[in-house]
Amino acid sequence: MCGIVGYTGVQSAAPILLDGLKKLEYRGYDSAGVAVMDQNVIAVHKVRGRIAALCEKIQDGAAVPGFTGIGHTRWATHGAPTEENAHPHLSNDGRFAVVHNGIIENYLPLREELIREGYHFQSETDTEVIVHLMERYYKGNVRQALIKTANRLQGSYALGVICSEEPGRIYAVREASPLILGMGVEENFFASDVTALVNRSRNVIYLEDGEFAELSKESIRIFDCTGRQIDKKATRILWDVQAAEKGGYEHFMLKEIMEQPGAVKATLAPRLKNGGVEFEELAGLVPQLASLRKIVITACGSAYYAGCAGRYALERLCGIPVEVELASELRYSDPLIDEHTLLILISQSGETADTIAALRECKAKGAKTLAVVNVVGSSVATLADYTVYTWAGPEIAVATTKGYTTQVAVLYLLALFFARCLNRAGDGWERMIEAVQSLPRRIQQAIDMNASIPALAKKYHKNPDIFFIGRNTDYAVALEGALKMKEISYLHAEAYAAGELKHGTIALIEEHQPVIALCCNPAIMEKTLSNVVEVKSRGAEVLALTYRDNQKILSVADDLLFIPRVDPLFSAAVEILPLQLLAYYVAKENGCDIDKPKNLAKSVTVE
Ligand code: G6P
Repeated sequence: MCGIVGYTGVQSAAPILLDGLKKLEYRGYDSAGVAVMDQNVIAVHKVRGRIAALCEKIQDGAAVPGFTGIGHTRWATHGAPTEENAHPHLSNDGRFAVVHNGIIENYLPLREELIREGYHFQSETDTEVIVHLMERYYKGNVRQALIKTANRLQGSYALGVICSEEPGRIYAVREASPLILGMGVEENFFASDVTALVNRSRNVIYLEDGEFAELSKESIRIFDCTGRQIDKKATRILWDVQAAEKGGYEHFMLKEIMEQPGAVKATLAPRLKNGGVEFEELAGLVPQLASLRKIVITACGSAYYAGCAGRYALERLCGIPVEVELASELRYSDPLIDEHTLLILISQSGETADTIAALRECKAKGAKTLAVVNVVGSSVATLADYTVYTWAGPEIAVATTKGYTTQVAVLYLLALFFARCLNRAGDGWERMIEAVQSLPRRIQQAIDMNASIPALAKKYHKNPDIFFIGRNTDYAVALEGALKMKEISYLHAEAYAAGELKHGTIALIEEHQPVIALCCNPAIMEKTLSNVVEVKSRGAEVLALTYRDNQKILSVADDLLFIPRVDPLFSAAVEILPLQLLAYYVAKENGCDIDKPKNLAKSVTVE
């Protein structure tokens, strides 16, 4: 998804902008550009494709003089990924350059209006209307022009703006799209993502909706949407810079897979106290739990599959019906939701457009809203009534791994917490607490037990199709396992509830067709086993995921992936590990761009 950087200071701006853009590459993009101001002239340089090409074009910034500038990585929405459509966009008089994240929903009427007035458009983007509006409203005061321009815009936007009349100044505006200001000595920055700032500045200010900022090398001034100056506190970023880098692994994805024992521990530990589960952040929700008639979980992508996996524990332990809905469907389904509904929103980034829209829709219907989010201060976290953070740390690879497992871990905690608050926990409380507490260790074991995965990837990577089957929580994990395989290896991978095979899918099973069978739930093992036998007898190669001592499966499967024994109610966070690793090594065999899979974005901030 698009990324923004801005710099003003005493150093050459272009190399700093390029460096910031590189840190944003993980978000997914298809073109990039910078605009740098030298004296009173703005020079724009853009490329279609990778930042490496932009670096080459401007000699790593050496070819572009100037101490002030803005940069952008674009993920195409309005108009193809071309150089013309890449940001920054320049006004007709060359006075303004603008970079933009988000969508201007009313850009068509604005575009027509501006064309009628004689403005000349050079791109198909929604963004370009902004720069022409700036030119139109500029009467010697950039701030006034920004306020007037922002008043005309509908939709979401984070903007970076420079004006050739004000060398040394950069402007940032935020409305429903993240923007962070970084404070330095004789220099200041902004970026759409903290990752682009941490190398240079650890003291940051989070802009909120409707606010804008004027940055020079000496100062940062922040204003509300009427132009009134406001004070805001800086936050100190405590992340280890290394945490945003690869730390010796070949890919961010592998690093993040290996970080899961630590990430899940960081998520669980502060909440597992005194033999129970504590959530100080949910104190206001506790008295309302008894009036709940249902829980609706909503999210997109892997976060949705985390919901599918966590649902079983919530429903079983709390005795409240749980529905899991894709946010993109929920938002348009006029759902039967009222004040007796708890809506749980799951999002790693907290900026997924459909999840935000579903939140707004359900909140308007009276639902109580609880966000499970990784990024502090993100939109979902801010909009929900209650927020529980997953402490996964920054996730850079587009395909989520530690984001997913920490989300599942939080759902387990919520299930236990709600059950206890409602006096429905029943027998086996200590055993359940122990099972959840041991997840980080079990996850590490699941990594250690599967040294054969690179070899298995060599065997399976050429098959164009891979099926995943399982029942109950195994099925929920199969959905995420298949998604991982699809998004990074580009193989056609499909997950089926094992009991559904006979209703159609089995027609696709032929000689040597790989089927990954998840068999980690003893209560329904015999049922899944019979499905394994059905596909085996039609020639499938079965790769079973199970416990080491599961003799029945061991004797039927062709190959094996292992997990340690875990209570099936809480096993999803462990079961997924071998499937993440398998997807990773298959993608590696296939020479795929693992951290930045084609066509995908880390944070999908458009519908
Ligand atoms: C994109 C990412 C996925 C992620 C999904 C939801 O599709 O590539 O990895 O699961 O968005 O993102 P969120 O940030 O809301 O969890």
